Amino acid sequence: MITIPEYIQNLTPYKPGNKLKTGKKQKNISEFINLASNENPLGASPKAIEALKETTKYLSIYPDVGATELISYLSEMLGKPEQNIIAGSGSDAIIGDIIKAFSDYGDDILTAEETFIGYFVNVLKLGRNLIKAPMKNHQYDLDSILNSITPKTRIIFLSNPNNPTGSMFFKKDFESFLKKVPENILIVYDEAYSIYAALHEGYPDGLDYEQDNLIVVRTFSKSHGLAGIRIGFAFGPENLISTLYKVKLPFEPNSIAQKVALAALTDYDFIFQTIKLNTISIERLTNLFDELKVDYIKPYANFVMILFENQDLARDFVDKCYENAILVRHLTPFGVPNGVRISTGTHTQMDYALNVFKKLLREK
Ligand SMILES: Cc1ncc(COP(=O)(O)O)c(C=O)c1O
Repeated sequence: MITIPEYIQNLTPYKPGNKLKTGKKQKNISEFINLASNENPLGASPKAIEALKETTKYLSIYPDVGATELISYLSEMLGKPEQNIIAGSGSDAIIGDIIKAFSDYGDDILTAEETFIGYFVNVLKLGRNLIKAPMKNHQYDLDSILNSITPKTRIIFLSNPNNPTGSMFFKKDFESFLKKVPENILIVYDEAYSIYAALHEGYPDGLDYEQDNLIVVRTFSKSHGLAGIRIGFAFGPENLISTLYKVKLPFEPNSIAQKVALAALTDYDFIFQTIKLNTISIERLTNLFDELKVDYIKPYANFVMILFENQDLARDFVDKCYENAILVRHLTPFGVPNGVRISTGTHTQMDYALNVFKKLLREK
């Protein structure tokens, strides 16, 4: 019989926010408005779609291991040397590689209680100890993270803005935190939603920080609408980036993703439209929640987390949204059982969804 390590037996496979495949009622995908996964409601960048048409010639050849063209463009755009940048199959894959490269079985990996589920999954599947520092009113509390450091802590993961709460911490607190973390602990600053947060005064842009123990991770999944093709990147000190090359799968990201991401990077109009739409949709959502006196956390990304008195009420809201063909995310797996995360949509999707939310939340 094959033995399965206990820490693998204890894992549960990732359950996506969208219940289309598992829901009680099987419905056609086109009937639904998906506000459950923080994707880009405008779809993919048109320049990326155009570039995709040209990629069939790459299907039969192995990808460029160093993603040379993409990294060279990123290097110019970010003002960072090429040796300081790496691309991977989504930031999720890079997060897993960081854990493999910079910690050992049984080490402590520290993050916050209510944060990106990808940290939890990657840490546990690699047999590391997951340490979750308490949050303050659903916001990262950087002091509580510092207080949770143990002699076995190797890596700290920070999501800013935070998924799923939507909250953000500010420059002053981040800069003081960076100074206080011991030099032998790696800080991973995850900026999956930075294009939305950068509009807000005081957002600590990862590009402005260079430190021997700091890696910044970004993704093409949100702002560039490329969640389906799996591509992200990270930048940091050269010795850490070269170590990541030792553990990443040699041929990730795949050739198609590399070409498409490069085209998406130059699509400034799409990024502008994405930010503009998001700003309006966030305002419409928060205006409604204010009007109905629904509890929510001030959002800095492309989603809003609303809070119910208890888990049952949150689940009930998610189920009723489903009955009305809207997918939203119940946040028990993220550590907020009374929370529901609602991603922004197009104007038409918002027109419909806001009416449904109004009806359901009034009834609550
Ligand atoms: C904070 C955070 N980090 C990373 C990711 C993973 O992004 P990717 O699609 O690049 O794997 C997500 C996706 O939801 C996220 O919310």
